[in-house]
Amino acid sequence: MLRRTLLAASRSPRLRQLIVSAPQTRSIVESYVAGETADDAVRVTRALRAAGLLVTLDYLGEDTTDEAQAAAVVDEYVKLLAKLSADGLTHGGAAEVSVKPTAVGLTLDAALARENIAQIAAAAREAGTTVTLDAEHYEAIEPTLRIAAGLRNEFPDLGCVIQACLRRSAADCQSLAGHGTRVRLCKGAYSEPDTVAYRARGDVDLAYARCLKVLMNGSGYPMMATHDPRLIEITGSLAMLTGRSEDSFEYQMLYGIRPGEQRRLANTGARMRVYVPYGGDWYGYLVRRLAERPRNLAFFVRSLRSKN
Ligand code: FDA
Repeated sequence: MLRRTLLAASRSPRLRQLIVSAPQTRSIVESYVAGETADDAVRVTRALRAAGLLVTLDYLGEDTTDEAQAAAVVDEYVKLLAKLSADGLTHGGAAEVSVKPTAVGLTLDAALARENIAQIAAAAREAGTTVTLDAEHYEAIEPTLRIAAGLRNEFPDLGCVIQACLRRSAADCQSLAGHGTRVRLCKGAYSEPDTVAYRARGDVDLAYARCLKVLMNGSGYPMMATHDPRLIEITGSLAMLTGRSEDSFEYQMLYGIRPGEQRRLANTGARMRVYVPYGGDWYGYLVRRLAERPRNLAFFVRSLRSKN
């Protein structure tokens, strides 16, 4: 309930102004975001790689309504991939990129977004790595999956994300599991109506476990994006049951969340990838992280009160 209220309130320009301008916000942003520039992203990637972790980088921004802005996002990804490659960080897909379709024009025109994503995928291939398309609000899901399916002939390793909370996702997993596809499974960070999504925590967890089973039994490359200890344990058990080797699936977590667990999993020999956002447009990302965990939100509100 609190999560839904915060996600809805976050659209208010006044709340946005309050959060963005509060000096205390900076330290919270720094715990979840690598920094503002591509150099910051490369620096953090280097440190994570040194600790044996894989990385996916997200240039923050979403809901672009301007063609020039969408082109600037493409340029940023191309520049980032070149920098990562020059540093030897992309080899074998060790560091890849995650792209939000609405950041490259999906809301404006699906054909434009497809073209932009193809450009980023070509730059990633040139650098020896891959792209994964993030899943956003419900209206963006169908066009995103359509773009991913359309581009997969040319870029077979183009990954996509399934949000377990959506009622359609079990069927989406079924259709993706048999095609050797890279699929990231997350619970879902957006607030959606119960006509299209499970809203109770327990229902979402069960839906995640069902999707997980389908993907682990399939022939694709599942990427389990969760910090939930029970689901991580179930993934390990399913890997044993299905006879999957350690390099045929991976765990994924967000930068700054459960870093000890990230290292523990990597030390067991598992493939563990950290999702690292960077850039100045961190508001939407931060609000989703605060909404996920009441304790984070309470801490944030207390620090606003005590220092204002
Ligand atoms: P859950 O929220 O139940 O958390 C389980 C445990 O993890 C908590 O008890 C706590 O210990 C820890 N934890 C979780 N969130 C925390 C936080 N903010 N701060 C501190 N601790 C926290 N969503 C989406 O809609 N589209 C997408 O494309 C993606 N992409 C994506 C990539 C990757 C790599 C990850 C890990 C996640 C996403 N997500 C996403 C976000 C995802 O949908 C979900 O909102 C978060 O991962 C939180 O859900 P958990 O599965 O971790 O479970």
